[in-house]
Formats: sequence, C-alpha cells, structure tokens
Amino acid sequence: MKSKHSRLDRFINKHSHFSLSDTRLLIAQGRILVDSQPAHSIRQRIGEFSTVVLDGLYLQDRQPVYLMFNKPKGCVCATKDNKHKTVLDFLEHPQKQELHIVGRLDFNSTGLVLLTNDGAWSRKLSLPETKLNKIYRVVLAKAITEAELASYQKAFSEGMYFGYEGVQTKPAVLELINPNTALVTLVEGKYHQVKRMFGRFDNEVLELHRLSVGHIALDEDLQEGDARELSKTESALDSRVRRS
Ligand code: URA
Repeated sequence: MKSKHSRLDRFINKHSHFSLSDTRLLIAQGRILVDSQPAHSIRQRIGEFSTVVLDGLYLQDRQPVYLMFNKPKGCVCATKDNKHKTVLDFLEHPQKQELHIVGRLDFNSTGLVLLTNDGAWSRKLSLPETKLNKIYRVVLAKAITEAELASYQKAFSEGMYFGYEGVQTKPAVLELINPNTALVTLVEGKYHQVKRMFGRFDNEVLELHRLSVGHIALDEDLQEGDARELSKTESALDSRVRRS
C-alpha cells in the first residue's frame, strides 16, 4: 500500500521548483514551516494533511474536506448500515467515500454533524482536553418547574456518575427555554449522555437537536438532509481550538 507520508525534501521537490538538495538550505534559512513550526530535518515526515508553508505559500498533498450536515431523524451516524439510511447516503460530495464523522448523534437525534477526511482535524476536535462546547436543544416529556430547575442544574453542573463507564460526567450547563424545552451544553460526548442525564430525573428526552460544536453553529438555512462545506473561518482551528 502506498504510504500516506513523505519526506520533507521529496515533498518540497514535488510541490515547488526546488530540488531535493535545496531543501537543507531552505530549512537552514527558516523558509519552511511544518504545521506552523520551523522545519528541522529533510527527513521530517509529512502527512496527508500536514500544512507545509514555503516562503509564505501553502503546499498540500490532498484537498481536505470539511462539511456540516443537518441530520434528520431516522438516519444512522455511520458510513455503512444494512438496515437504515446513513449520513453518507444523503451526501453528493465527490469525495464522500473518504469522509468520516466527527462526533455521532443517535438515530433519532437531529442537527449538526461534522464530516471530514482530515484525521488530524477531527482528532483535535474530539480530544477530551479540547473541551469543546456542544449545545443541544432538548424537548422533554415532563415539564421542569421553577422549583425543580435548581436541582436539575446542580446535578448537571456537579456531574453524574455513569457506572457503566465508571466515570463522572464533566460540568454541564442546563438552561430552560420553556418548561419542556432546554438548552444543554456539554464538553464531552458519552454514549446517550443527554438522555441518560435527564433519565436520572425520570424525564424522557423526546427530541434532541445539536445546534453547535465549538464555534461551528448549524446553518439555519440548511435543510434537514443537506450538507454544505464549512467556510475557512468555521474549519480553522487555532492552537487552542476556538471556543464558542
Ligand atoms: N446525547 C444523547 O443522548 N444523544 C445524542 O444523540 C447526543 C447526545
């Protein structure tokens, strides 16, 4: 199988008019940046989506793709499923077979799903240390009264112990839009997390819609089942990963 990495000198030679042997000098002159750091060796490994900048110009092997998808109910966040439609079945993108999903939603959840072929980007978004806010709008079976709200909020912000995984959930924020509709902000994505948190109050989640992931908000003009490319600003992650 063809390696997805190449040496820096070969990469520079392939993507510019400089020869293999010029690379050493370019490095010494500090003219090459790899992933925002000065290059240090002609043997440095360059991945598919490494950003290599030579004299201020970006050189790249393959076009990265970043999409937002407005997931409808009854579709699986997977690339293949024998029974149900998957997110990929909705896409018409020419590179769709290369894409993977960043942060799944349950079968009947709706809203923002991100897809990419850039593994470094999705890893960065998903790292627990990144603690990216994910905001969900939740419709509940039982109304939350003013009197009950404080105990819900306390439990969400203190975190709940999930015995199955043996973990305490990270502080979450709960706000009410109306007695049956809440906004929940999480910084992680445990299995069925929102449903399980309301489950502690014996309150069933009837609808769950993801509105945003970090600074990337679901485009209100995007119809259910449609996808669009992220803008440069949306896909840009600075060193801290932008927060919402
Ligand atoms: N929490 C859930 O319970 N379901 C989702 O789809 C997302 C978060």
